[in-house]
Amino acid sequence: MVENISATVKLHDGADMPGFGFGCYKASGPELALAVREAVACGYRYIDTASYYHNEDTVGEALRHSGLAREKLFVLSKIWPAEYDEPVRALDQSLRLLGLDYLDGYLLHWPGQDNARRLRAFEQLLRQKEAGKIRVLGVSNFLEVQLSELHDVFGFWPVINQIEVHPLFSQAGLCRFCAQWGIQVISWSPLGRGREMENALVRGLAADLGRTPAQILLRWHLEKGLLPIPKSVHVQRVRENAAVFDFRLTPEQVEALDGLHLSDDQGRMGPDPLLYPR
Ligand SMILES: NC(=O)c1ccc[n+]([C@@H]2O[C@H](COP(=O)([O-])OP(=O)(O)OC[C@H]3O[C@@H](n4cnc5c(N)ncnc54)[C@H](OP(=O)(O)O)[C@@H]3O)[C@@H](O)[C@H]2O)c1
Repeated sequence: MVENISATVKLHDGADMPGFGFGCYKASGPELALAVREAVACGYRYIDTASYYHNEDTVGEALRHSGLAREKLFVLSKIWPAEYDEPVRALDQSLRLLGLDYLDGYLLHWPGQDNARRLRAFEQLLRQKEAGKIRVLGVSNFLEVQLSELHDVFGFWPVINQIEVHPLFSQAGLCRFCAQWGIQVISWSPLGRGREMENALVRGLAADLGRTPAQILLRWHLEKGLLPIPKSVHVQRVRENAAVFDFRLTPEQVEALDGLHLSDDQGRMGPDPLLYPR
């Protein structure tokens, strides 16, 4: 488990990545630029974006202005399924917008409905990794069936799977599967996009521990070996979300939060990877 916001975890191929990240979905313009610079100042080293977010240029510029050396950052972007026929072009476009000559992380954003296209894209991106344009190639929103298919075709498990995880939608089975094969889970919507912060148990723990609901939720991810990437465009919240390394939850408190899990239909905030995008 990471001990501070800049500490790294070791992935199963030997690469390192920060064990905590900063999400950039649904943020743009000057407020995103300010938030990214604040995140870097607070110690966040992994910045999470995607071609789909249409903000890679703003992220890249903010990172250049942060003053931090390139090699200290972990910049991750994602390729959208509609781009799977031309993955090199999509990668080059992300690099151009970000103003970088390599990405630390690059993920297939969703499995999509076409297995052959997805596998071809992964294969072509593996060559880009060998050429030094990607350090860590992974996937996002993959279920066991798609992870297993990649393993069968390429002979190894992807190093990362970025999936929706928060207490009301904990994906325990998929997380166990990933842990079994050494796949690092990155939790997207780690705060349940705000919904979980209203939960009575979360609020009660926050009051007991003198913390905020967001901090309780983020600590839950860390206690479980998950890698959360909270997003906020408010400087105070960016700082609040980073201040989760000076307290712990007990196993009983983690278990109580595990008990909040709802059925898939009620728990998930995002779409079902089996159905989306069409
Ligand atoms: N791979 C995928 O398919 C996928 C899908 C979705 C998201 N993601 C990634 O995961 C990241 C995080 O997920 P998310 O943005 O959906 O949701 P989230 O991080 O769970 O929640 C973000 C929401 O919570 C608010 N918030 C943040 N910190 C707060 C605090 N301390 N107190 C109160 N409210 C707070 C934010 O508002 P303000 O910004 O107004 O503060 C925003 O409305 C994304 O930004 C993106 O990088 C990936």
